[in-house]
Amino acid sequence: MISAAILVLAATGCGSKDVAPSPTPSPSPSFEFPYQDPSLPIDQRVDDLLSHMAAEDKIGQMAQIEEGSLSPDDVSDLWLGSVLHGGGTVGTGTPDEWLSVTAEHQREAVEDTRLGIPIIYGVDAVHGFGALYGGTVFPHQIGLGAANDPDLVERIGRATAEEAAAVGVRWTFSPVLAIPSDIRWGRTYEAYSQDPVIVASLGAAYIRGIQGDDLTDPASVIATAKHFIGDGSTVYGSSTQFIVQQYLLDQGNTPANPALLRDVLLPPYQDAIDAGARTVMVSFSSWDGVKIHGNQALVTDTLREDLGFTGFVVSDWAGCDHINPDDFQDSIARCVNAGVDMVMVPYDAEAFKEALSLSLMGGDVSIDRIDEAVRRILTVKFEMGLFENPYPDPTLLDTIGSAEHRALAREAVAKSLVLLENDGVLPLSDSAQTIAVVGNAADDMGIQAGGWTMSWQGDSGPVIPGTTILEGITERAEAGVTVLDELPDSGMVDVCVAAVGERPYAEGVGDSTDLALPGLSVLDTLEGRCDSTVLVVVSGRPVIITDALGKADAVVAAWLPGTAGEGVADVLFGDVPFTGRLPMNWPRDLSQVPSASSGDEYLYPIGYGLTY
Ligand code: GLC
Repeated sequence: MISAAILVLAATGCGSKDVAPSPTPSPSPSFEFPYQDPSLPIDQRVDDLLSHMAAEDKIGQMAQIEEGSLSPDDVSDLWLGSVLHGGGTVGTGTPDEWLSVTAEHQREAVEDTRLGIPIIYGVDAVHGFGALYGGTVFPHQIGLGAANDPDLVERIGRATAEEAAAVGVRWTFSPVLAIPSDIRWGRTYEAYSQDPVIVASLGAAYIRGIQGDDLTDPASVIATAKHFIGDGSTVYGSSTQFIVQQYLLDQGNTPANPALLRDVLLPPYQDAIDAGARTVMVSFSSWDGVKIHGNQALVTDTLREDLGFTGFVVSDWAGCDHINPDDFQDSIARCVNAGVDMVMVPYDAEAFKEALSLSLMGGDVSIDRIDEAVRRILTVKFEMGLFENPYPDPTLLDTIGSAEHRALAREAVAKSLVLLENDGVLPLSDSAQTIAVVGNAADDMGIQAGGWTMSWQGDSGPVIPGTTILEGITERAEAGVTVLDELPDSGMVDVCVAAVGERPYAEGVGDSTDLALPGLSVLDTLEGRCDSTVLVVVSGRPVIITDALGKADAVVAAWLPGTAGEGVADVLFGDVPFTGRLPMNWPRDLSQVPSASSGDEYLYPIGYGLTY
């Protein structure tokens, strides 16, 4: 059903420049319109295409709708610019299921519309494409921050792009460039580090990897520098968001701080833009009490004039709505005027088109602003070669979960581990005859992977194929060594490995009041039963372990390693040395959160890590 506002727009041509095509050179003979001719400069192709678009078509290009809200033919009927799958998977997440979904939407866009403008399909491939069953799931960003190896991160970006592009996904909402000031934040693991220099370096490396050297390459996936700006700098307790539970930090407020903005938060975005990032996602949070989605000074003046960003800006999930919760039309108008070019609506495309059409007719949003937004979106689509190659390269399917990618994940895991304590039990000697690997994270792929995997929040259990920590140790142990998955009823065990993990979470659902790790209690069951005990912490952030230190002879931070649990064994057995360094301060107790007072030493400071 096309709304009245849109019909009026179409009838009056209000806002449309659908007049005689602008004086661009005529296309070469095989093309009906100049915009279809890849030999022409992109800006001329964009000018021509815009000249054939009515305002309602342009507004459609500014809409990004989530997969579950689409009705058949919506993509073509509403001229949608993009479709996303926001956290979670399609069906059982197999490559064929993803392909069938993305290919059908693209077919509709390209073949069932007057001008055949392709869509861009976007997902959160934030640690590999975690919602692609059988895909390679790499360590979450915090682990890569501990590894602090730009070349490794670039290779991970490349591998992630191959697996996503293989199934028609050419846009990922990553990397996160947040700098968590309070590690109780549920998105701490999505960040690389509390050091902005490391964030800038790894964010740029990831973007180089995920986008590649040539955006028209079918294996190129456009990146998203997110969440602009200050997503990880909010004040504890300042969030008003309630999703599943009351958020504490996520989507909260960052008090205005020009020095923080200039010296800490913006430099990673400058490096991301210099690395070629083609999209930026706005933060849900507020800056000095003003929702950033409606903050033109930041989203346009700072991002574009100061940093020189030329791609397009996308909102976060219904992020515009928070500007004025009582007036959707006003929210959309203020969001677009602030500088958001594509709106992650994400549910009701027609309501979005109606709202923006009314604002256009009412003069609250100009056609020039709409043209500017659509120009940016179309420019990226032309840069990606989508008009020439809208469909995936089937040869990329062989990269999904490939031996090469699994080896890369194993390398990443090994480089991400940080040795916090060691009385000499590590590296595990081959003289150990019995090893018991216990704890809630010993044999649980879901805990190893964390959030943004087969579901938004993540789940415990065998959610995806991969190698658990127990399986990795079992595979590595020498012949003759007995590896147990529980303590025997009696007797001593040479080495107990207690792998203890946080339950999976994502976003504000993971906002923590106490940084507790309940599974540490497993150590009490090991008292007096193990000659040596190694504690492996599987968490999305530093957690409070101080009282457990006396119960373990060695302590290792493993973060959220993903599918390559064998990488943990590589380091525990000494096949690969410990090289990881803490990307964030590790507090002794909550008195040191969000930060320790001067002179009050952290349990382990940022940059700490032992070797052997
Ligand atoms: C979420 C997140 C954002 C993600 C988007 C799409 O709410 O804030 O990081 O990219 O929605 O899933």
